[in-house]
Amino acid sequence: MSSNQLDHKSQAWSALFSEPMSDLVKRYTSSVGFDKRLWRADIQGSLAHAAMLASQGIISAEDRAAIERGMQQIAGEIERGEFDWKLDLEDVHLNIEARLTQLVGDAGKRLHTGRSRNDQVATDVRLWLRGEIDLIQGLLSDLQKALLQLAEQHAETILPGFTHLQVAQPVSFGHHMLAYVEMFARDAERMADVRRRVNRLPLGAAALAGTSYPLDREQVARALDMDGICQNSLDAVSDRDFAIEFTAAASLAMVHVSRLSEELILWMSQNFGFIELADRFTTGSSIMPQKKNPDVPELARGKTGRVVGHLVGLLTLMKGQPLAYNKDNQEDKEPLFDTADTLKDTLRIFAEMVGGITVRPQAMEQAALRGHATATDLADYLVKKGLPFRDAHETVAHAVKAASARQIDLAQLPLDELQRFHPAISEDVFQVLSLRGSLDARDIAGGTAPAQVRRQVALHRARLA
Ligand code: ARG
Repeated sequence: MSSNQLDHKSQAWSALFSEPMSDLVKRYTSSVGFDKRLWRADIQGSLAHAAMLASQGIISAEDRAAIERGMQQIAGEIERGEFDWKLDLEDVHLNIEARLTQLVGDAGKRLHTGRSRNDQVATDVRLWLRGEIDLIQGLLSDLQKALLQLAEQHAETILPGFTHLQVAQPVSFGHHMLAYVEMFARDAERMADVRRRVNRLPLGAAALAGTSYPLDREQVARALDMDGICQNSLDAVSDRDFAIEFTAAASLAMVHVSRLSEELILWMSQNFGFIELADRFTTGSSIMPQKKNPDVPELARGKTGRVVGHLVGLLTLMKGQPLAYNKDNQEDKEPLFDTADTLKDTLRIFAEMVGGITVRPQAMEQAALRGHATATDLADYLVKKGLPFRDAHETVAHAVKAASARQIDLAQLPLDELQRFHPAISEDVFQVLSLRGSLDARDIAGGTAPAQVRRQVALHRARLA
């Protein structure tokens, strides 16, 4: 095949084709518009393949040198935006290979020895995704650090803890932030686990069955810093479970961001007034001059749907495919790229936004005082005085009813009135009924006492150091 023949897609394959591909089909089947972002991985993979071909004596050292020279020039052209991406050449792989052959002649044509685009694309996507995972790890750790900062500052700040969005028990705001640190720490673990399976080498699987050339696949894996080779050629070129796993891990991370978003949105509404976001993360209204809208968390909540959609899309893409490679797999890229982009942007903006949250401790405390948040503490107090828990629970329910009727908090009932519900109640009850007393009492591993919060902050800091 002469190098100019690669310019004509209809003839790129072989003399087998007797008519050119129609423009519509070209556009429909081409992926270069989006897969060109794999170019670095594509060149990296090709260089490792060429080096191995040379060291195995399959191509000459001169050919290898020519390939390296050509690839260097191509990388420069792409970086400077001078590379002429051709739709006719379908994808990133054929575009780069055609340019290489244009630049270095026959050596370029030898690069594809023992290789297929099927193992090439699987390798490229894995190399690219590995890099994305590493970036995401950095961002997850930045976000955790920002949350830890808030947690430390607000170990003593009292927030009404909710269940069913009803005031339940007081919690430390720092403890609440630490809940998200736990979630993002698990997201990071999941990403690290996914990375182990992403970081395996398909090259050498060729089209589907392996190749008759004496390739040294382990050498290529080492050169690409991969943790070994894919052991079955059919599986290597066809499965995209690594991409699905990544998207699943990304979906969970987005779901965690989305839950945090929902809370930020509630907390900054007038009805809560618990926090303020820095102005640079909010927007105004074109008609209502008083408005400051939490657009960033709202968008993050919305974009979560988009990433979860990509997960469903990829699962559906895979489910009906017989072994081995099918062109369906070209459809893995856009959802995968968009998942990584969306997650990275979201984590980046959240790490910054969390750092700029202003907390309104008084509003939080006021809200906690409105929901009989220490009713459980009163029940526990009675248990310590000898009542069975179920009886204590019932007794406190009566007291809550009385306080509600007077529109005051349980803690505001005078002692003599409290004693009408049970004679064992004495002056020391008010410490128990205080928000602070309630918090301090939960000094158990995983509990909300400020001392526990500080301990957890230190542990997380050490983990992230
Ligand atoms: N552009 C293709 C993809 O993204 C590359 C592999 C094509 N292989 C093939 N035999 N058509 O999946």
